[in-house]
Amino acid sequence: MKTNNWTPSSWRSKPISQQPRYPNAAALQQTEAALRAGPPLVLADEIDKLTQELAKVAEGQAFLLQGGDCAESFAEFNATNIEDTCKILLQMAVVLTFAGSCPVVKVGRLAGQFAKPRSRDNEIIDGIELPSYRGDMVNDITFTPAARTPDPRRLLQAYNQSAMTLNLLRAYTKGGLGDLHQVHRWNLAFVEDSPLGEKYRHLADRIGEALAFMEACGLDIRDRATIRETTLYTSHEALLLNYEEALTRPHHRHDGWYDGSAHMIWIGDRTRQLNQAHLEFARGIRNPLGLKVGPTLEPETLLRIIELLNPTNQPGRLTLIIRMGAGQIGAKLPPLIRHVQREGYSVVWSCDPMHGNTVNTASGIKTRFFNQILAEVRDFFDIHHAEGSYPGGIHCEMTGQNVTECVGGADAITEQGLAAKYITRCDPRLNANQSLELAFLISDFLKKTRRSGNG
Ligand code: PEP
Ligand code: CO
Repeated sequence: MKTNNWTPSSWRSKPISQQPRYPNAAALQQTEAALRAGPPLVLADEIDKLTQELAKVAEGQAFLLQGGDCAESFAEFNATNIEDTCKILLQMAVVLTFAGSCPVVKVGRLAGQFAKPRSRDNEIIDGIELPSYRGDMVNDITFTPAARTPDPRRLLQAYNQSAMTLNLLRAYTKGGLGDLHQVHRWNLAFVEDSPLGEKYRHLADRIGEALAFMEACGLDIRDRATIRETTLYTSHEALLLNYEEALTRPHHRHDGWYDGSAHMIWIGDRTRQLNQAHLEFARGIRNPLGLKVGPTLEPETLLRIIELLNPTNQPGRLTLIIRMGAGQIGAKLPPLIRHVQREGYSVVWSCDPMHGNTVNTASGIKTRFFNQILAEVRDFFDIHHAEGSYPGGIHCEMTGQNVTECVGGADAITEQGLAAKYITRCDPRLNANQSLELAFLISDFLKKTRRSGNG
């Protein structure tokens, strides 16, 4: 790919939004040097493999499942949480694979999802004004001047934590837990006794029977890597460009630059301005890119962004992550699809039904209603169906933990019940039951899509 006048640092000459102000420039430079000296977290070959898999999604032959925390944290870092997130993603994926009879590309919002864009630079509490919390990679959530001061050493801590997270994910997915013969083991303890747990067990039984049948027929599948192992790719919002730049390396065989911080990175809805730093950085790296598309993005501007990020129209290169909100998707998505179709651009269309559906309860708790989330997903599928294009993916904020952050779902979490286990650092996440329920509901839409021949 020829990227005119691009270097890993060319973003530095452009206007930039949503960056922390580090008081100590020398400390920031030291951190950047340490990151530049460190190994990448993922490799160019893996990154290219993900692009190829996403190309299949763009062509309607596979489905993308992207999910994980809104923001990872240093405090919640432990093996159980990583294992549980991995299990719920595998469960959702197997539900979708079975229903859609198509491969599911699994991409976690994890091992690097630490930095957050904010609506305001500062936060005022009781007349005191301090910098907003921007994620553990930048500052601490505690409301004191020391905690809220951006500290570049946190970039290194996030890098180290990402490496440890990836190490465990690779072990889980390649070393046993990812084996399709283990589908029953993916049910989390607290899901087990719920109606969803029951429904999942039923599906797992059918998969077990199908595997046993193939083996009985003499198909030697037990040792096949496709059955024994799986791949969970990593992704995060590329918000802090000093971090991304420091992990971006040239590849001698592939003639290009790869951002080694994650397999896929995306540009957020607040940092996608043309002629600004984030798109400038993203256009030059070979990683598959996501672009958050909210209600303020005009169709013509979207086309200019696509031309900038994917000038060769390479399938799998660009995923449009639509996050309109249930009330707006009906009006906003169809013109975008028509413009993209008119130009013949290849993109993956994915649905983020979370970020356009965030509301505050009367008592001021940030939440999302499961019904709204579902309504946006349903409209996403229906609109694609009507426009003759392929609804290729889903992007969720979710956790394997038994949290109470979103209202509704099979557990019928109420607004009053939110306080029971509300621990997110940023946005409200689906808990494991709600995630599984959503996967089953999406699987019905997906079945319909594939039957109708849009897939
Ligand atoms: C996010 O995905 O956490 C996020 C901030 O999304 P958006 O850029 O779509 O608001
Ligand atoms: Co979020």
